[in-house]
Amino acid sequence: MTARIIDGKALAEKVREEIAQRAAELTAQGVQPCLAVILVGEDPASAVYVRNKVAGCEKAGFRSLKFTYPVDVAPEVVFAKIAELNADATVHGILVQLPLPKQFDADKVLEAISPEKDVDGFHAENFGLLLQGRKSFYPCTPWGVMKMLDSEGVQLKRMEAVVIGRSNIVGKPMAVMLLSRGATVTVCHSQTKDLAFHTKRADLVVAAVGRAKFLTGDMIKPGAVVVDVGINRDADGKLCGDVDFDTARDVASLLTPVPGGVGPMTITMLLANTVESAQRVLEAKQQ
Ligand code: GUN
Repeated sequence: MTARIIDGKALAEKVREEIAQRAAELTAQGVQPCLAVILVGEDPASAVYVRNKVAGCEKAGFRSLKFTYPVDVAPEVVFAKIAELNADATVHGILVQLPLPKQFDADKVLEAISPEKDVDGFHAENFGLLLQGRKSFYPCTPWGVMKMLDSEGVQLKRMEAVVIGRSNIVGKPMAVMLLSRGATVTVCHSQTKDLAFHTKRADLVVAAVGRAKFLTGDMIKPGAVVVDVGINRDADGKLCGDVDFDTARDVASLLTPVPGGVGPMTITMLLANTVESAQRVLEAKQQ
């Protein structure tokens, strides 16, 4: 079997066109969607992510604000900026790029962001709403994965799904989203005794481990759907995912590539959350 490859870039472009349309309509009604991004330190990967987020905003017709701080900034300075942005009615989304330097307690920073502006979906309130199956801002990466699966017509109900990774950003919310759609979900992680035992019986595997080419074809059930959330560098410095694409392609029925898979969808869903936040502001104004 040769897997069909899901083109995340093409899907992201299509969804972003719809978002840009919604943004234009909101702007015409006096509410231009606006995302504020905070970047602390000089981590090169974070700088690239932030640049792409700001560029994504501008291309979709949003206003964007970017605040950068040196690696040794006092946490109070960042908390003061978050408070200012929380109070600014023209700002609809606030994002603090992770990871943060060691003087920060990341949980405290994320919880300082108003839940109504938490377009990353990382605030404990939004995470709790997601767990309860209620409306919230969904974390962007797992939500992007759901959009990709839906775009391919993958029937999640009754599926055996295995999520590898238990981070708050991807693994845990991914498992909850799949569960809420009727999949039977197993979450594997670094302490799992026999990972291949689980992956070999899975109809769907989502790999979010952060280890280059970790999931190989022999660990995948023939015909399974395989989603690769990893962004790593291989031994030659080339960008690659958590899945060994060349061996997985011969076994899976559907596979996401890296680059050009989940990555472009993550920023797309951030824009979707921001436009949704702006929409809620407009609706509140009209009441
Ligand atoms: N660092 C890695 N991924 C993310 C993300 O989705 N949001 C934020 N804020 N930081 C990140």
